[in-house]
Formats: sequence, structure tokens, C-alpha cells
Amino acid sequence: MRTLLTNIAELTTNVAVDGDPCGTLSNAAVLMEDDRIAWVGAAADAPASDGTVDAGGRAVIPGFVDSHSHLVFAGDRAAEFEARMAGQKYAAGGIRSTVAATRAASDEELRARLRGFLAEMLAQGTTTVEVKSGYGLSVADEERLVRLAAEVTSEVTFLGAHVVPAEYADRPDEYVDLVTGPMLDACAPYAKWIDVFCETGAFTVTQSRRVLEAGIARGLAPRVHASQLGPGDGVRLAVDLGAASIDHGTYLTDADIDALAQSSTVLTLLPGVEFSTRQPYPDARRLVDAGVTVALACDTNPGSSFTSSMPFCIAIAVRDMGLTPAEAVWAATAGGARALRRDDVGIIAPGARADLVLLDAPTRVHLAYRPGVPLVRQVWKDGATVV
Ligand code: NIG
Ligand code: FE
Repeated sequence: MRTLLTNIAELTTNVAVDGDPCGTLSNAAVLMEDDRIAWVGAAADAPASDGTVDAGGRAVIPGFVDSHSHLVFAGDRAAEFEARMAGQKYAAGGIRSTVAATRAASDEELRARLRGFLAEMLAQGTTTVEVKSGYGLSVADEERLVRLAAEVTSEVTFLGAHVVPAEYADRPDEYVDLVTGPMLDACAPYAKWIDVFCETGAFTVTQSRRVLEAGIARGLAPRVHASQLGPGDGVRLAVDLGAASIDHGTYLTDADIDALAQSSTVLTLLPGVEFSTRQPYPDARRLVDAGVTVALACDTNPGSSFTSSMPFCIAIAVRDMGLTPAEAVWAATAGGARALRRDDVGIIAPGARADLVLLDAPTRVHLAYRPGVPLVRQVWKDGATVV
């Protein structure tokens, strides 16, 4: 089946041309053949197809690639958010209350919630989602969470080292033994990635290195939560181990920025976290100017960031973090793909997956210009209309 999407006023391909990383085309068309893109070019040159969809002079972008989420959990922490807005500080300790709720939930409850979030994301243009465990923190519960995540995505991350659970509070190194031993054995078959929360109040650099190296030895690729609550050595650890991404980076040092700029590690910024914890937004302008590859993701979770909206994150990145609209859209699509080491998503080019978003707007700028307005008109995933 060959479907032509034509009359596109502005097409963001992310195939860089002449100093435009977004590879922007005007008056363009895209030919989808089954689950892949077969052709991209000027609408006037479009090849024959079995059917045509008229974009009506609107903008088309690649489906968003949300490379950081924690979607398998039960309950919520609205009261914690409310207290924060009244002046209380965010502390990673709140994670333990979600762990208790998640352990008490059935597979069916967790599965229904997870699928609900994915539908919510799809409606907002997100076609690729990474999903982490981390609210189980026992061998059986972490295994359950990665198993449920693997039902819906190939981008599964084992985050047994999210925080030390209450029952190991006074023996954190024994918990690291559990994570790097029996828990990793149970979870590795379902996961592509190993992650750790390397932060004061979670895991030290030494413990984090143990976790990541154990995962690498089992064939998982590393990614790291770091520098969310204060500066630390997590960025350097991530770069040292060749991590695909270090996520958060709210408090980066000059040395961190230099190390990232010289590495292949992506910095994934999570503006929803700063928004809902009232922390300062990182200076994305400075990072991009320094040569760091930046991705944007939602970090959907009940504690630090309960948004699932990539357009919302784009709007913040433009308004408060210094990215241009083009850079923010790139970071939310191609940037996310780099953070997941994927070359088949986040791009509109022959051979890539036919994951596209038709915006109810003439240009991608409207994603930041019209914050909070649902601008996603139609979504294709693997060539099929899903929204
Ligand atoms: O990415 N930083 C650690 N983990 C999550 C927060 C999880 C929570 O508060 O429940 C994050 O922000
Ligand atoms: Fe996270």
C-alpha cells in the first residue's frame, strides 16, 4: 500500500541540508509504503500512489521520540505536587511511596495504566517511547515492570537502581549486590538499557559504576540519571562509560559541558521536571553553542514530572531555555532518536519508519507559539493512521 501525503507547507525531515539541521522542505510530499517511508520531495514531483492525503497547507514533522519515561506505576502524588507549589522542596524520597503503590497493584492494573499513557502520548504526537522500571525495587517486582514495558516498546530500561528501597535503607551496598546480581539476571532478558539514579540521596558514583558495568557485562547499554538535584560526578561517569545519554543535567559544571561536547553522549533535557519542581531551567542555548547534542523528553512519572506532552516541553525549551523552535523540534525528534541510538525514527527519509505528525498549523513554530493548544491533527505510526 503506497499512500502519498501531499500539499505539506513545511516538512521537517531532519535530514540536514545547507546548515539547516531540520532539513526543511516547502510545498513537499511524503510517500509511505507499508510501514516505511519510500520517497520524500517536492509535491510537484511526487510518484504514483494508491491513495492521497491532502495536508491542506499544514506542517508535518517526524513523530516525537520521547526517550525518557517511567510509565509503569500505580497511584499518583498530587498532594506532593501541591505541597511543592506551596514551597516544599522536591526530594527523591517520594519515589518510595510510588514503590509501595506499585507493588500493591496487579499486572492488569499496571498494564491498563501503561497503555492509557501510551494512548495519551500518541494523541500528542509521540510515536516512540522509552519506558523504565524503577518502582518495583525487588527482584519479582522489577521483573514484572520490565516485562510489562516490553509488551509495548522495544526501548525498555532496567532501573532497579532508582533509589534504595526502605527495607535496605541501612545497607545500600547489599541492595546494589541485589541489583547487579539476581535482579539483573531476572530483568536483562526484557531490557535494552541499564540506568541508575546517580545523585545524593540515591546512588554514589562508585555504586552507579558497579550497576552500569554489571548491566554492560550482560549486554545492556548504559544511560544515566544525573545532576538533577545538584552538581555531581554522574555526567563524567556516563561519558567515561560511553553512555547513550545522560538525563536531567539541571546542574552542570563547565567540566561536564566540555566532557559532553567531546563525547557521543547525548544530554537529555527534561523541562517538565524543572517546571513541576520549581528548579532552574538549564541553559540549553549554552549547551548547543558548546557543541553538546541535546534531546528533549517528558520524563513522565508521578513525582517530578507528570506531563506526557512533548509540545509542552518544546514550548518551555523555547521560552525559557534558549532553543530556537527549530532546535527544540529537532531535539524532540532526532535528538531523542540519538539518545536511543536509533536511525529509523526521528527522521523523514526513505527507509525510515513511517512515523509522522500532521500539525494543525502552517509551521512547527506554532508548537511553541501556541502553548497548551492541541495542534496534533493526525498521526501515522508504522504507516498506519493511529490518531
Ligand atoms: O527522573 N530522578 C529520578 N527519577 C525520576 C523521579 C521519580 C519520582 O519522583 O517518582 C525522575 O525525575
Ligand atoms: Fe527519570
